[in-house]
Amino acid sequence: MSNPEVSIIMGSDSDLQIMQAAAYMLEHFGISYELSIVSAHRTPERMVEFAKNAADRGIKVIIAGAGGAAHLPGMVASITPLPVIGVPVLSSNSIDGWDSVLSILQMPGGVPVATVALNGAKNAGILAASILGASDPAIRNKIADYKSTLQKEVDEKIKK
Ligand code: RP5
Repeated sequence: MSNPEVSIIMGSDSDLQIMQAAAYMLEHFGISYELSIVSAHRTPERMVEFAKNAADRGIKVIIAGAGGAAHLPGMVASITPLPVIGVPVLSSNSIDGWDSVLSILQMPGGVPVATVALNGAKNAGILAASILGASDPAIRNKIADYKSTLQKEVDEKIKK
């Protein structure tokens, strides 16, 4: 079996309920992924190893979710040349979610993290698919189909 194309990582198993929406979208588009816990604060050496090796393992996009003092996406982005999508999680140690959003969003120049909305793991999955779809017509077509489904759903609601 070939290596997964997308890696979904999160700071804690308590993030899983939110982060699994990214996995669902990747499954919807038929994209292989792995999913694991990597904590910037509790397993810093694992985080560095992960970020150093992801590209060589064949990973093409990283989705990283964390909450509160959410350093995981930014720290991984500081090491890997791969695109990193950050998912701010409204976690048990979040004040109100803004802490998670700003920790991931306000990166210094030179180290981008593509930050989605609070608890926006679904969009992270779609964005990862779009990044892969830029060079893969089969994935691109699936995303186009998905978007026309969204439009049809609204059309139905308008009729009602
Ligand atoms: C962050 O702290 C994790 O990403 C999680 O969102 C939050 C709380 O973690 P737990 O205390 O629930 O393990 O690092």
